[in-house]
Amino acid sequence: MDVLGFYPMWYVPAIGSASVIAIIATIHVLASHTSVGASILLAYLATKAHRENLPQIYDYIKRYLLGLLVFSYVSGSITGPGIWFSASVANPRGISALIHNFVWVWAAEWIWFVAEVTLVYILYYTLGRIDMKSWLRLAWTFAIGSWATMYIIVGILSFMLSPGHEKWFVSGNILDAFYNKNYFPHLLMRSSYMFAIAGTVGIAIASLMKKDLPEKVYKDIVRTLSFWGIGGLVFGTMFFGWYVSTLPQRSLVMLSGIVPKWYYALIFIILLVLLSHFMLTAIRPTVARFYMAYPIYLLIFFMGIYPEEKIRETIRKPYVAGEFVWVNQIIAKDVPAKGIHSEVPKIQQAGFLASNPFVPEGLKKITPDNEIMAGKAIAILQCSGCHNVTSSSGLRPFGQKFAGMTDKETVYSFLASYLTPQNHPPYMPYFVGKDEELRALSAYIADMISKGGRVSAKIEVPRQSFEAHK
Ligand code: HEC
Repeated sequence: MDVLGFYPMWYVPAIGSASVIAIIATIHVLASHTSVGASILLAYLATKAHRENLPQIYDYIKRYLLGLLVFSYVSGSITGPGIWFSASVANPRGISALIHNFVWVWAAEWIWFVAEVTLVYILYYTLGRIDMKSWLRLAWTFAIGSWATMYIIVGILSFMLSPGHEKWFVSGNILDAFYNKNYFPHLLMRSSYMFAIAGTVGIAIASLMKKDLPEKVYKDIVRTLSFWGIGGLVFGTMFFGWYVSTLPQRSLVMLSGIVPKWYYALIFIILLVLLSHFMLTAIRPTVARFYMAYPIYLLIFFMGIYPEEKIRETIRKPYVAGEFVWVNQIIAKDVPAKGIHSEVPKIQQAGFLASNPFVPEGLKKITPDNEIMAGKAIAILQCSGCHNVTSSSGLRPFGQKFAGMTDKETVYSFLASYLTPQNHPPYMPYFVGKDEELRALSAYIADMISKGGRVSAKIEVPRQSFEAHK
C-alpha cells in the first residue's frame, strides 16, 4: 500500500510544540511591532523637527534609532526566522501548504525586510551628516518599507486562520488567499496597536533624555508619542471589533468557550494601563519616568502579546493552515484548484499506522502484545499537537481529560461516539483510522490513567520486532 507524505513528529512533552512557537513569536511580535511603529513615529517627528526648526529632536531620534538597532533588530531578526524554523519542525505540512501558496509573497517580504535593516543602519549613521531633505526621504522610505513587511506577513497569517471564503479552494488564486475576509481588519488592528507599543518605549527613551533636551522639545516629543499611543489604542480596539466580526463560526465558538477567560482579563488590564499612562504623560509630560514606562513596555509582552498569540493559535483549530490541513498534519479537505485531496478516506481504509512512513515496523500491525504501544504512537501522532498525551500536567493533558477512565471499554465507547465526523466539537478533529486503531488508542489511554496519568514520552516498540529484524 502507498504511504502518505508524513514527516517525523516533534513531540514536546509538557508544553507542546505550539507553545515553543508562541514564545518565540511573542518576542518577535514585540520587536517587530516596536520597530514598525517607531519607523513611522520617527519619520513623523523628523518631519516636524525640520518644519518647525527644532534640531534637538534629532538627538532624540538618533537615540531611539540606536535602541532599535541594538534591541529590536537583533532580537527581531533572530526570532523572525526562528518562528518559521520552529513551525517547520512542529508542522512541516502546514508550512508546506503556506509555501506552496505564498512563496513569492514571502520572497517579497524578505526584500522589504532587507531594505528595512539596511535603512536603519543608514539612517543612524547619516543623521546630521547629509542634508535633511534627503535624510527625510530615506526616513519615509524606511517607514514604508517597515510597514510593507507587516502588510505582507498579515496576509499569510490571516490565511492560516481561514481563506475566508470558498472561492480560493476552486480558484487557487494567490490574491484570493492573501486578501481574505480577515485581512484588512487584522492589518489595521496591528497597524494601530503598534503605535501604543512604540509610543511606550519612546516615552521611556525620552524620559532618559529629559535633562539633555530643552523643556519645550521634551514636552513636544512626549505629547506627540502619547497622542499617537492613545490613537493607536482607540483605533486598534475598534478594528479588533471588526476583526472579530470577520472570524469564521468555529473561531467564535472557541473565543467564547475554549479560550481561557484570564487571557481576556490580562489584555483588558494592559490596555487600561497603557491608556492611563498615555493620558498621564499627555497631560503632564514631566511625570514620565523610565522606571514606569519601561516596565509597562515589558508587561505588554506578558499581558498583551503572549495571550494574543495564544488566542490566535487557539481559534485557528482544528486547522493549522487554510482550513484544509489539521494540526495533526492530516489533510482533511479537497483543494480542487491545487489538485489536493483529503487523505481521510485513504487513511480510514488503509489504517493510520500503515499510512505513516515514520511509524516503526513493529507497530504497523496491531496485535494483543503491541496494542498499548501502538495506541501511544497514535496518541502522539494524532493528538499531541494539542494535548500533552503522556502526563497530567501542561497542555490540555490527557491525564486530566480522561481522569478516572481506567477501563479501555469506557474510553472506547466515549471516543467512538464523540470523535466522529458528525459529533466532534468544532475545535478538535475527528479520529481518523480503523476501528482497531481507536481501540488501541483507548487501551493506551486507559493504561496510562491506571498508571497514575504519567508515562514515558517515548514511542516504545515491542522487543521481538527488533529480534525479527536481526
Ligand atoms: C487541533 C487540536 C486538537 C487535536 C489534534 C486534538 N484535540 Fe482534543 N481538545 C482540543 C481542544 C481545544 C479541547 C478543548 C478543551 C481544552 O481546551 O482544554 C480538547 C478537548 C478534548 C477532550 C475533552 C472533552 C472536550 O471536548 O473538552 C478530550 C477527551 C480530547 N480532547 C481528546 C482528544 C483525542 C483522543 C485526540 C486525538 C485523537 C485529540 N483530542 C486531538 C484540541 C485538540
